Amino acid sequence: METDAASRIPRHIAIVMDGNGRWAERRHLPRAIGHREGQKAVRAAVEYCRRRGVEALTLFAFSSENWKRPEGEVGALMQLFLKALDREVGELHANGVRIEFVGDLSAFALELSSRMHAAMERTRENSALRLNVAVNYGGRWDIANAARSLAQAAVRGEIAAEAIDESLFAQHACLAGQPPVDLFIRTGGELRVSNFLLWQIAYAELHFTDALWPDVDADVLDAALAEYARRERRYGLTSAQLRVTG
Ligand code: IPE
Ligand code: IPE
Ligand code: MG
Repeated sequence: METDAASRIPRHIAIVMDGNGRWAERRHLPRAIGHREGQKAVRAAVEYCRRRGVEALTLFAFSSENWKRPEGEVGALMQLFLKALDREVGELHANGVRIEFVGDLSAFALELSSRMHAAMERTRENSALRLNVAVNYGGRWDIANAARSLAQAAVRGEIAAEAIDESLFAQHACLAGQPPVDLFIRTGGELRVSNFLLWQIAYAELHFTDALWPDVDADVLDAALAEYARRERRYGLTSAQLRVTG
């Protein structure tokens, strides 16, 4: 078993940032205020991961299903994304964070999608932390997209259909080339994945907390990492086998 504390830090953490609406509703505030508060928690989580030496952080900010929310809430979220891009990218860049937006960006207004592309371009050489922000993302969309892109490559004669295996598939899915997701966290108390990463969390450790996203701070993340460090990741083996192979 691993004894080195550093080796028990997850290389890649994925978070379903849930509970903004309830955080606001409990205070009799509009849900949009909860989303605004949630941005402070995003800042804290990025800083936390940088400090702890996590290599990649993937945040679920807007699902492909969230378009079905009331127009006012969707509009408020789009405004928040715009403002956040204007306000935060400079500092993230100064801190060496590489930003990537994952999801179908074509659905966003040009004003927003062009800022997303610009942020990705500006920070692409950074290496302190990879920050993946999932927007208009769905795990099934991701899988269907990878399948389509492989099929197109096969039709063009670039790959043989027989060559499609797990490793090639992974290269066509979102987060290709990044460390595997070690720790999947969902805040807000719901025990579901809600069409976030599906392919990528095959062997992630799952951690659920009742904390609402705007209340998430270093203590909540410390608790998640402490629990992760206690888990035995067996990947199908037995505990005895793991003791032998270390
Ligand atoms: C998560 O918080 C943020 C988004 C889905 C955009 P919610 O808005 O889902 O908050 P709850 O679950 O209603 O409290
Ligand atoms: C998942 O939260 C999406 C994000 C956090 C962006 P939801 O609030 O949309 O999930 P459900 O509706 O509870 O499954
Ligand atoms: Mg929710």
